[in-house]
Amino acid sequence: MKLNQKNWSDPNKIQSRRENIIIPYREHIANKLLPLKQFWTLSGQCTDGNNPLEGCELLQMIEEQFITPDQYRGVELTPEIYKMNKLVYPNIQFINDDFYSAMKQSYQNNEFNPGIVNFDSTYLPERGITYLSDILYFLTDINIKQVLLIGNFAKMNPYGGHKRHEPNDMIKYLKKNDRFKYSFLKGGWKYYLISTTYKCKKSRTPFMSISFYRN
Ligand SMILES: C[S@@+](CC[C@H](N)C(=O)[O-])C[C@H]1O[C@@H](n2cnc3c(N)ncnc32)[C@H](O)[C@@H]1O
Repeated sequence: MKLNQKNWSDPNKIQSRRENIIIPYREHIANKLLPLKQFWTLSGQCTDGNNPLEGCELLQMIEEQFITPDQYRGVELTPEIYKMNKLVYPNIQFINDDFYSAMKQSYQNNEFNPGIVNFDSTYLPERGITYLSDILYFLTDINIKQVLLIGNFAKMNPYGGHKRHEPNDMIKYLKKNDRFKYSFLKGGWKYYLISTTYKCKKSRTPFMSISFYRN
């Protein structure tokens, strides 16, 4: 399998990570990820199997002194991507699993202590909001505090079609989701950003984001 997720090193992606992760966390919680807290994310491809990919999320977060390498938890469903990452970074905690399942497993192992949960998906909003609501419910249920939860969703289907989704669609699906409604109120979550739109230069797909935090 030839893998080439160049988009994750794109300057617009790098800037969007600042706007969606680093700046809001600094504004609402702390200047860098609190000690003992973990940075949970969908890893994507961080290496070409031989060398690191400059501009990828792992390196950016370390270089911007936002996290230390031991705080990173990069979950990836695709085994080939996981293997490439692990080859170059044997000591970094990459996990080959579904994101939600990996967090649950970590909780069951008494290891789960997230400060950032970055559901950096390419899902369209309907599916993405359902998944994000499940995460919000889980974090509320186990009473995680001092945490920023981010959801990124594609505005258009990357594989075709012209229907374009807008931030209001995220809100529409959130309002219909009982798990979201229950846990948002119960957990005292706060909205931070409804949307920052970004598009990688070589991609036709724009993305939008929504974030919540809880102190
Ligand atoms: C947008 S990329 C991640 C980019 C990375 N966070 C960054 O900032 O560069 C999303 C990755 O998540 C993987 N993925 C999709 N659904 C997943 C799931 N439910 N659990 C774990 N990984 C998933 C995809 O294979 C893809 O590599």
